[in-house]
Amino acid sequence: MGTAILVASGKGGTGKTSFCANVAVALCAMGEKVLLIDADAGLRSLDLVLGMADSLLFSYADVARGDALLKEAAVHHPIVRNLRVLTAPADPARRSEIPDAQLCALIRRARDHFTYVLIDCPAGVGREITAFAPAAQRAVIVSTADALALRGAQKASQTLRQAGVPEAHIVVNRIRRGMIDAGAAVNIDRAMDASGLSLLGAVPEDDDVAVCAGRGQILLLESEGDGQQAYWNIARRLRGERVPLLDGLRGQYQ
Ligand SMILES: Nc1ncnc2c1ncn2[C@@H]1O[C@H](COP(=O)(O)OP(=O)(O)OP(=O)(O)O)[C@@H](O)[C@H]1O
Ligand SMILES: [Mg+2]
Repeated sequence: MGTAILVASGKGGTGKTSFCANVAVALCAMGEKVLLIDADAGLRSLDLVLGMADSLLFSYADVARGDALLKEAAVHHPIVRNLRVLTAPADPARRSEIPDAQLCALIRRARDHFTYVLIDCPAGVGREITAFAPAAQRAVIVSTADALALRGAQKASQTLRQAGVPEAHIVVNRIRRGMIDAGAAVNIDRAMDASGLSLLGAVPEDDDVAVCAGRGQILLLESEGDGQQAYWNIARRLRGERVPLLDGLRGQYQ
């Protein structure tokens, strides 16, 4: 049975959707079968980031209600083999009609067909987090290195622990040396202390991440920069490999 990973944050815009898209692609390149679920009803974005905006007809709400089959609603990515995407309902009211237990049943079913199920949650500690949490084996909290985001990460971690997610890690995103030097961001070690979470990975600020997302392109195919390397390393760690931090980030891990 596959592993369901809930991807969350306290503060918005920390990089959850970028994490989901890029780590999913890397996992697929390693031979895994991955289902990406956009859990951000009303504000879905995975379809845009992956260049699939016109191809997703049914949402997870349709599958949970029995109006569509998982295999027809979870659409194949046009380029990345083994990657399927299940979008969120465009209308949040459609989501509200579905009992949490049906969402969890959907995740359990998906784990029969995929080795990884990544759930891209909306920011904050609201209902989506607690609804999907009972079905998740682990959580990844994506945070930037500033105090506000880390406070949110700690809150999200608390909520997930209370909701029974057995294992949670932090990914520190958009790391910029200049901000750390100026005292506006903490280093990775302090980020772990502030959030109370152990580290899954660190991703540097990299324009290629935003450019590819904006164009709906696959970062791993378009870039050889540190951003794509960081996501690649994270995918390897999720599969149980021990991988050191990127050279440029190692100095900040102190
Ligand atoms: N490592 C990075 N380097 C540069 N830009 C990044 C990086 N990570 C994310 N971004 C950019 O930051 C913005 C927010 O990222 P993203 O949409 O992944 O965040 P999110 O946590 O999913 O946001 P939301 O809370 O709204 O769902 C996007 O424009 C994205 O391209
Ligand atoms: Mg998002």
